[in-house]
Amino acid sequence: MSGLPDRVLLAFDLLEPLPGPVLEAMQLLDDLGSSAEQVAEAIGRDPVLAARVLRLANSALYMRTRRVATLRDAVVLVGFAAVRSILVTAVAYDAFARGAPGYGMDRTQLWQHALAVGTVARHLAQARGLGAEAAFVAGLLHDIGKMALSHSLQEQYQAVLEAVRGGADFVQAERAVLGWDHAQVGAEAARRWNLPESLVQAIEYHHRPDELDDPGLADAVHVADALSLMLGFGVGTDQLMHRCSEGALRRLGLSEEEIPLLLVVLADLLAEVASLSSLELA
Ligand SMILES: [Fe+2]
Ligand SMILES: [Fe+2]
Repeated sequence: MSGLPDRVLLAFDLLEPLPGPVLEAMQLLDDLGSSAEQVAEAIGRDPVLAARVLRLANSALYMRTRRVATLRDAVVLVGFAAVRSILVTAVAYDAFARGAPGYGMDRTQLWQHALAVGTVARHLAQARGLGAEAAFVAGLLHDIGKMALSHSLQEQYQAVLEAVRGGADFVQAERAVLGWDHAQVGAEAARRWNLPESLVQAIEYHHRPDELDDPGLADAVHVADALSLMLGFGVGTDQLMHRCSEGALRRLGLSEEEIPLLLVVLADLLAEVASLSSLELA
């Protein structure tokens, strides 16, 4: 997707490139020859980033067994793939600062929804041999485009509602009235962050996974979105206007009877999300 209107670009802090230490650490993580020391040193160059990485590495999202005290330990114990998603989480936290009031979500609600969908998507992906960390990051970022479209949506909410009443689904209505839907804008941000194309696609199609040839990641994010809503993470103005794809449930091998039990497991998994509402240093 190209040609986003300037006002969307301007409103969109996410179009800033990733900070230097993050980029450097990501490059090191791509290189199998890198050592944990090198990665830790790159992260350690940014003290705020370093503190957030330690905090996340010690959270139940990653580790339950052993407390990690140093960045090097964090890199060794959670592994390169998880450090990559921890870095994206630490940076994304700032990108969520505006919240999306046009969608009825303040910063905390949007962030908790993001963490919940990421965590659930990872759980679904893990069980099915899909890229677990890619699913987490796609889930974390899936609605990030809402921040950029929040103001426009607020202004044109009645027109979007009219389109929904006329039979469009919510993202079709966004595209018809605003020119873009929040998933497309989020995908553009992920592209600017140089995230892998499969992950960008999962963000772009998280409300319409059936349209993809290879919908694995998008299915995981799509269903995680619906399950997170059921668990109370993510009640915004639009959430109840999205339809859950039966195809995605089927492809993930989830039957309706299994969902109540799955929700019990997930509620436990998400128990710590509330305590990660803020990554600010005390
Ligand atoms: Fe969405
Ligand atoms: Fe969502």
